[in-house]
Amino acid sequence: MYKSNLLTKGFIDEKISSEINIIEEIKTLCIEKNAVIMAHYYQPNEIQDIAHFIGDSLALAQQAQKTNSDIIVVCGVHFMGETAKILCPNKKVLVPDLNAGCSLADSCPVDKFEEFIKQYPDYTVISYVNTTAAVKALTDVCVTSTNAKKIVAQFPQEAKLIFGPDRNLGDYINSTTGKNMLLWDGACHVHEQFSLEKIVELKKHYPNALLLAHPECKKPVLLLADFIGSTQALLNFATQSDTTQFIIATESGIIHEMCKKNPSKEFIPAPPLDSTCACNECNFMRLNTLEKLYNCLKFELPEILIEEGLRKKAEKSILRMLEMS
Ligand code: 13P
Ligand code: SF4
Repeated sequence: MYKSNLLTKGFIDEKISSEINIIEEIKTLCIEKNAVIMAHYYQPNEIQDIAHFIGDSLALAQQAQKTNSDIIVVCGVHFMGETAKILCPNKKVLVPDLNAGCSLADSCPVDKFEEFIKQYPDYTVISYVNTTAAVKALTDVCVTSTNAKKIVAQFPQEAKLIFGPDRNLGDYINSTTGKNMLLWDGACHVHEQFSLEKIVELKKHYPNALLLAHPECKKPVLLLADFIGSTQALLNFATQSDTTQFIIATESGIIHEMCKKNPSKEFIPAPPLDSTCACNECNFMRLNTLEKLYNCLKFELPEILIEEGLRKKAEKSILRMLEMS
């Protein structure tokens, strides 16, 4: 269960009549209420298909900053809703299911993180956006997987840097920038569970397939990867490549857009360690459904609310990220 130092409003779980065409109703509600639906690439296919905008964490933040809509429905996880609210305090920000948390954000409780950074008062704190607003408020600059390398590279080589919460992304950025950032020991349960042995087996069946991996994956998977990049970068690489088969080591929701953009190419989800589970799907991301999206638009709940003092502190680190991106 996602814990966050913020105020939240309501939860609606009203039964929806089978008579209504839910997709048409959602579209009508969006027009009536001047609402925009922004979905992350890890959302269920039907939500990606109805969204006005789909993107990775960085694109969703940039899009939220630009929108003229009165209501922003963030179909993603809680911290993405918070990021939108931090950037758009005067808009109503809704998330269809407030329980859509994030194991990576949960791996960085604010009190423990504060204790950690207090030991290094002369360090600059860089945090992945996959954090609570409270952790962002302790952060000098946020990053996403799309801009992390670019932002870290802008600091002098000898700069004293702390990076949290994803140890795999931090380690990867250290290795590609030559920095020696202190790393918080957090991880995402989806990206950490890919099995190197099973990927090696899969490669035998698909000898021409390229392995594309998100930098939240563990180092052995990254060492085997033909290309490492954020969700957006993996999509761009697959689209531009002449290769026609790809093994995808990230949340499998992105495969929907990869197939749409590349109908003649084949995308194979990288197998999880436990073959009895769909562990390459983020259970938090998959909490959002069309029914919850409909109720959320109809009742304008659940809403993300953040106490203004906290919002202002958290905003600085996100604005700095957007400037440095
Ligand atoms: P990006 O959207 O930055 O690729 O991050 C991946 C992720 O795990 C989002 O929750
Ligand atoms: Fe968090 Fe991982 Fe799910 Fe992304 S995929 S929302 S990092 S738990």
